Amino acid sequence: MLEVATAAQLREVLNDWRGAGERIALVPTMGNLHEGHLQLVDRARERAERVVVSLFVNPTQFGPGEDLESYPRTLNDDRAALDGRQADLLFVPDEMVIYPHGRSACVVSVPALSDGLCGASRPGHFDGVATVVSKLLNLADPDVAVFGEKDYQQLMIIRRMVADLFMPVAIEGVPTCREADGLAMSSRNRYLNDDERQRAPALYRALTGVVRAMIDGRRDYEVILSEARNCLSEEGLEPDYVEVRRDDDLAPPGPADRHLVVLGAARLGKARLIDNVRVSLETA
Ligand code: PAF
Repeated sequence: MLEVATAAQLREVLNDWRGAGERIALVPTMGNLHEGHLQLVDRARERAERVVVSLFVNPTQFGPGEDLESYPRTLNDDRAALDGRQADLLFVPDEMVIYPHGRSACVVSVPALSDGLCGASRPGHFDGVATVVSKLLNLADPDVAVFGEKDYQQLMIIRRMVADLFMPVAIEGVPTCREADGLAMSSRNRYLNDDERQRAPALYRALTGVVRAMIDGRRDYEVILSEARNCLSEEGLEPDYVEVRRDDDLAPPGPADRHLVVLGAARLGKARLIDNVRVSLETA
């Protein structure tokens, strides 16, 4: 696997590949790779001849008091894992490469999708994500970019940004990779101690409980969402939100909407867990 750190080096390698008629897939990451990330790499490999993985712990998507400093940085393990999945190129820029004129010189914002759900308790987070992803897309100019569905709101924001700014890239979402007990894989799961790790799958159970109720025909969303929040509290998690939204634009559902997503976030010790489960009521 090649490794580059500057925009010029990245473009040189990618121009050669593009010149040879090869398609390019980009997998943006913040490192500390787990099986979920590696499945993004596998999907990228299915979509293009060349797979580029970026690794950059993006400071602008962390709020004051969040875990920017302590975010796990495991570059050597990440390199080995990516080698094992036959990634072609690792792009590891430093902050000056991504923010040459400072962190707030240019900001990309998708306010319609960014202000609610996780955005309500993490103000500015999705502006940081949209900004860094647009920079990475402009730098790599890939044919396809691959993201996990676990960060569902993020994925919707990136899709909207790419559509609205006419960016010539296909955005591919990959289903959430789960531990055997249902917990969505996440780099932040390593903040959980043993006891918290046992409790953490309660979030997925709560969301699937809501989905089951919907499939059973219940539409009293206020009640079933409040039941889900109570389940989380009983398990020792501190619910941030549990919501039902339309799966394409994250708007609150009307009675005719069938393609929905149940999203949730909860605090557990030092970790903030997020998860989501989609449901299509047409088949119910
Ligand atoms: O999902 C992530 O790991 C990050 O938000 C991303 C997309 C790499 C942007 O920093």
